[in-house]
Amino acid sequence: MISSRYIIPVDPRDAPVVRAGAVVVGSGVAGLYTALKLADFTEVAVLCKGGVFDSNSYAAQGGIAAAVGAGDSPDLHEEDTLAAGDGLNIRPAVRVVVKESPEAVKDLLRLGALFDRAGEELALAREAAHSRDRVLHAGGDATGRELVRALWEQVRGKPNIRIYEKAAVADVLTVKGRCVGVVAHTGDCGWTVFSAPATVLATGGAGQLYRLTTNPQGATGDGVAMAFRAGAAVRDLEFIQFHPTAYSGSGAPSFLLSEALRGEGAILRNVRGDRFMPGYHPMAELAPRDVVARAIVMEMERTESTHVYLDITHKSSDWLEKRFPTIYRFCRSQGLHLGSDWIPVAPAAHYMMGGIVTDLWGCTTVPGLFAVGEAASTGVHGANRLASNSLVEGIVFGKRTADRVRRYLEEAPDLPWPPGGDGEEAAVWPPERRCLAAGVEEDPSSLRLELQAMMSREVGVVRSADSLTRALSALGRWSPSLLSAGRNRDEIEWINLMTVARLVAEAAWFRTESRGAHFRRDYPARDDARWRVHIVFSREGGGWKVRCPEWN
Ligand code: SIN
Repeated sequence: MISSRYIIPVDPRDAPVVRAGAVVVGSGVAGLYTALKLADFTEVAVLCKGGVFDSNSYAAQGGIAAAVGAGDSPDLHEEDTLAAGDGLNIRPAVRVVVKESPEAVKDLLRLGALFDRAGEELALAREAAHSRDRVLHAGGDATGRELVRALWEQVRGKPNIRIYEKAAVADVLTVKGRCVGVVAHTGDCGWTVFSAPATVLATGGAGQLYRLTTNPQGATGDGVAMAFRAGAAVRDLEFIQFHPTAYSGSGAPSFLLSEALRGEGAILRNVRGDRFMPGYHPMAELAPRDVVARAIVMEMERTESTHVYLDITHKSSDWLEKRFPTIYRFCRSQGLHLGSDWIPVAPAAHYMMGGIVTDLWGCTTVPGLFAVGEAASTGVHGANRLASNSLVEGIVFGKRTADRVRRYLEEAPDLPWPPGGDGEEAAVWPPERRCLAAGVEEDPSSLRLELQAMMSREVGVVRSADSLTRALSALGRWSPSLLSAGRNRDEIEWINLMTVARLVAEAAWFRTESRGAHFRRDYPARDDARWRVHIVFSREGGGWKVRCPEWN
């Protein structure tokens, strides 16, 4: 794939500069928590593409997994994470999360997060593929909202954190192979350089690649795309998690119906009213997410329907309204009663297991560039994420990343911006950019709809060589976009979506087996002998290289 090093339409050396010790891109739970920890020792600029609350984290319902209950342990949490991950988790990263998550929960409590309680104790729910009740939640089904609220209260009280809303970051800046900050299109000042020795990408996922998604409009894979352009390695992108149960009423927005509903005994029925999950997996509705999503797709195909039903009518309306207030209200807005109606649901793109390669301390392969949260590929999730392991991963690795940035600031000499040394000109602003200032020619929002339809059809829950070949050829037709400039948020998002779509489709085409969230109709079995490896892409010399390192 040929893509530009930069998509900004201006020479960054001409742009105004804001300086900080660290720049954090993204204001979900991972971004805000990392910013808070960074503020213990440096000035932090937090950049949000929209408003502070426009994040995927904010919408998170189910909760945050940690082995804090009686009879639970990090070992059991590890076992469940590995079983869901289908042989591709990076074990040291899993160890880090399961061991450090109880401490992360304590820190969140200290910072003011109000988790739900059962009497004096923290209330713990069960979700799919967990062998114990270990999911903490808040406001019933509003865990993300509560965590963002609590973190935001802290962040806005810190004089050394500055928040920039409506700052659409387009590119990571590098000088001599080191990251020195980012370039953003801001509402107030146009193109602006945010210069810092350390940059943390916490930009979330890429659910907007698909027509049905639980993710917000801004989930366009920005971090992965810009890190890739800057030369960072990205990994495991074929593994896109489809949440089994998003609302699928006609004309309604795609809205998550938390897995915690199934944890409370909800069952799935096809349009004929038959319960089907026991025929697919011994854990029935509580099987791992990829299994449930595929079973639903198969039932939809078999019954020629666009949905199945979620049935939790064994619980009373009063109980449901209290335990799942957000979902209850949403169903009411669609004219449905959770306590007496079956709710139409279908799988929707929910989470990107892969991302920017990081080590156990948030370091990417580009010095000075760090990544955390869904944008990062720590290796915790393997081929399929265990429910409620994402918020906790963002917190645990947010702390580690801040710890590592502290050392980096002590050890690495600051690179001046703008750079002045001989021979840096071409590295900072490559000659080909000077003639590529034209933007995307078609309307990015129509292009996005076309891309989403194509990705849902060809690179969705079920894939094959034929569907992936069609996808790559469609993407090839749009690939001139990869050489365009992104002149505003819409164009930046379109170029990023295209970049990530190419990476996802290429990786899915390469992996000729089925594992976790990646299912190939033409290769339905898992093939450990050949494919217990990670597919890693990195942009080198204008093209890209694929590496499949040994499994570790
Ligand atoms: C859910 O509430 O079902 C989503 C939780 C998650 O994705 O971990």
